[in-house]
Amino acid sequence: MNSATNSLARLLNLDDVEARARELLPEVVFDFVAGGAADELTVRWNRERYSDLKLRPRVLRDLSGLDSSVTLFGQKMPMPILLAPTAGHRYTHPQGEIATTQGAGAVGATFVLSSGTHTAIEDVMAVARAPVWYQLYVLKDRAITAALVERVQAAGAQALCVTVDSPLDGARYRQQRQILQIPPGVTYPHLAGVREPSSIQTLDQILPANLTWKDIEWLRGITRVPLLLKGIMSGDDAAAGVAAGADGIIVSNHGGRCLDTLPATIEVLPEVVAAVSGRVPVLVDGGIRRGTDVVKALALGASAVQIGRPYVYGLAVGGAAGVEHVLKLLRQELLMAMSLLGCPTIPSITRDALWRR
Ligand SMILES: Cc1cc2nc3c(=O)[nH]c(=O)nc-3n(C[C@H](O)[C@H](O)[C@H](O)COP(=O)(O)O)c2cc1C
Repeated sequence: MNSATNSLARLLNLDDVEARARELLPEVVFDFVAGGAADELTVRWNRERYSDLKLRPRVLRDLSGLDSSVTLFGQKMPMPILLAPTAGHRYTHPQGEIATTQGAGAVGATFVLSSGTHTAIEDVMAVARAPVWYQLYVLKDRAITAALVERVQAAGAQALCVTVDSPLDGARYRQQRQILQIPPGVTYPHLAGVREPSSIQTLDQILPANLTWKDIEWLRGITRVPLLLKGIMSGDDAAAGVAAGADGIIVSNHGGRCLDTLPATIEVLPEVVAAVSGRVPVLVDGGIRRGTDVVKALALGASAVQIGRPYVYGLAVGGAAGVEHVLKLLRQELLMAMSLLGCPTIPSITRDALWRR
């Protein structure tokens, strides 16, 4: 075991990884990753509402076929955990998205590449050993957007997640108090000509104010891969999304980074699951830090979950090995929770796994 692997081994859970990242990263970078909007209440609630939920185990069930795999859009995944799109991995590690892709690939996890990637999708695909999805912002210029959709599909992206919750950044005070300098030579290759390689530029400068359901129908028409809507926080919008042709819904409040005092995503999940009523898969992100959190999301009807900040901290701490470590920790906790709950497979995790007062 080399010393890097050895020091990762001492990080026993995702909180340990975060604490180590906080020690290693410049404060301005840590705050960019950790921060949220305004008073960061939603950031806190995303986690706390998982703590409110308790589990209800069943005993003496056959666990010999313990299996965390799921199939989403025909893609078999070894676990129902994806890497949420997060912008700018070269702020955190010199190998940026290349290291993230390698870490995800080591455990077969799907990586959703952000529109704000510092690495071109073609370079990401060259090292990918697991599916890569692409997170799209519909840009002011729809022709540039259409060309980007074509480009990422040609490169091999297996699904498109359209982020619909952030026509602007929101009041990110923690981020705005300091100036995050983009490292020399680093750019945003998918936003060339759209976004200056300066961190000061805000989302409203590149995103349209007139994005509506019609644009989703248009996108569906020009996209060959499954199209998911990311940033849905109501049953009504989930139903409208399915009607507009979405193949999947991601319940997300952007990790509490856009509008503060939105409810925790785990609180909103049941309403969305009910509105969608099994027509398309529902995913959820925000505040997932434990295997038991994954179980709770699945018990409330999610088909899979995404994690954001935790793997970025893993990237900071150990590059590809750090990302892999975070995913392995979460998978290990998930498998432990499944065993101790008497749920040997993902489909066997139902509402019965939750204790009700
Ligand atoms: C540093 C950072 C950058 C992010 N960039 C994007 C982005 O470019 N596009 C997007 O749709 N979501 C973005 N997100 C939100 C994540 O996709 C995800 O919704 C959120 O991180 C989930 O919450 P968690 O961090 O508590 O797991 C970003 C989140 C972080 C922490």
